Amino acid sequence: MSQVDVIAIDGPVASGKGSVSSGVAKALDFHVLDSGALYRLTALACMNQCVDLSDAAAAEKVAQSLNPLFKDGKIYLEGKEVTDAIRTEEVGLNASKIAAYPGVRKALFELQRRSAVAPGLVADGRDMGSVVFPEARLKIFLTASAESRAKRRYNQLKEKGISSNIDDLVSDLKDRDRRDMERSVAPLKPAEGARILDSSGLTLQETIDLVLAWYRESKA
Ligand code: DC
Repeated sequence: MSQVDVIAIDGPVASGKGSVSSGVAKALDFHVLDSGALYRLTALACMNQCVDLSDAAAAEKVAQSLNPLFKDGKIYLEGKEVTDAIRTEEVGLNASKIAAYPGVRKALFELQRRSAVAPGLVADGRDMGSVVFPEARLKIFLTASAESRAKRRYNQLKEKGISSNIDDLVSDLKDRDRRDMERSVAPLKPAEGARILDSSGLTLQETIDLVLAWYRESKA
């Protein structure tokens, strides 16, 4: 049982979890756990060590010895800064492969639990409320229509100077949703007791404010 307040924010790809989590954490002066980064770091470490990603036992070993450093908004792996390197599509795809291995999930479990320290934690992921922090004070399942998530992704890519096609993005998102929801280990679904927050018609600030209002309500 964690001694501090945890706000678990789970949801599908491109639902805005990262931005909402950091906004909520900033307002409350809480820590943030970006659990997806741990799966991405494990994938990158496997790639660096030329580990075969279809070898579940080998990937589990890498996850067990993972020792990342999160400092001043930057992420380091074995002394090297990898903040941007873990955000590539290739690493994301490999992260989703190794995230399906129960041994990898188990190895990363304790690392995630150790993030729950004072004054509190906003945990961002897919199974924060269901598996890692079932005792969280507030559990949110953040979602948005595939169309509005695709639009956000389109604008993010445009900002980076990458052109894309909305219809392709919608169909990619639907494929990934299906895979995440249908996998047998920790499938993506709202945790028991989670409040569903559909941000399709909301701005980022409105979404953050709603989470903060629900958090205050949970303390009343
Ligand atoms: O949120 P993200 O795109 O950074 O996550 C990368 C991958 O890790 C994604 O394919 C799903 C997986 N993941 C997971 O299985 N469980 C989590 N708690 C977080 C991420």
